[in-house]
Amino acid sequence: MNGHDTHPSSPLIDSPAPMHSKPHHASAVSPISAMNQYWKSYYDINAVKFAHSLMKQVDRTINGVEEEQSEIDLTVAGLRQVLNLNETDRVADLCCGNGLLTSGIARSVAETIGVDFSENLIDCANRFNAASNVRYVVGNVSTLDRSFFSGVTKVFMESSVQHLQSDDLSRLLRTLGNSPSVEAIFIGGVPDADRLGVYYDDDRKMAFYRQREAEGRPHIGTWWSQSQLRGVIEDSGLRVRFLPQDARLTSAYYRYDCLIERPSRHDITRPQPNAH
Ligand SMILES: C[S@@+](CC[C@H](N)C(=O)[O-])C[C@H]1O[C@@H](n2cnc3c(N)ncnc32)[C@H](O)[C@@H]1O
Repeated sequence: MNGHDTHPSSPLIDSPAPMHSKPHHASAVSPISAMNQYWKSYYDINAVKFAHSLMKQVDRTINGVEEEQSEIDLTVAGLRQVLNLNETDRVADLCCGNGLLTSGIARSVAETIGVDFSENLIDCANRFNAASNVRYVVGNVSTLDRSFFSGVTKVFMESSVQHLQSDDLSRLLRTLGNSPSVEAIFIGGVPDADRLGVYYDDDRKMAFYRQREAEGRPHIGTWWSQSQLRGVIEDSGLRVRFLPQDARLTSAYYRYDCLIERPSRHDITRPQPNAH
């Protein structure tokens, strides 16, 4: 199996890392769903278990081996291009993990704010991916409020939408749609439900996937078909363009990207005058 894929099959038993300093929290603590809690624990533990590897902490592995730095560089370059980033932009990196992408993006924009619900990963982001124009906060992206996005012009979420369920994503998109400064949103690295069998490409792998789902301990998380994702995005009042991943990325064979924008005036169908 390739891609962001090496989850432990053993129970989650490690204890969280000690914090170096009290992290900044995005908002008052909100109730967290069981699935959110599952992923939060998973990444809090990963941060400790792979203290020596920023790539492994955020599942940037291929068959258990760290991804090449070129995967980060290609992803940052692609984000700059598709979001048309410039030095006036204020960018939010949702589910930023330990800041591997956040700090790269920060080099070409005015300001970047990374948010992740894993305190331990935010702690690593502050220690290893700090910059003068980057701020990291602890928060659940599905419960952020509009004030969080005040002044933010572009938003991205990379390799993370698999951890959100429909209602989480819908809440987030509605908040973004109601945040007037936000011009564009990029969701990258979506595991494609229509290519599930390309990833779990033999009976043993598919049985593993099904067993983890049945146990309520998903392997990768939610696989989204483009039509399912389009439904959630359009129901939130936004429009989407699907893009193939850069073919040089190792995950391109089972993941896709999408660019989300507000409907332009041309997209809004004018009501037809009544025919009498
Ligand atoms: C595979 S990692 C990707 C990290 C980073 N975007 C990257 O590409 O290197 C997924 C990240 O999503 C975060 N995450 C998942 N669900 C979240 C949520 N509801 N709110 C905030 N962070 C979340 C996890 O803690 C983890 O850091």
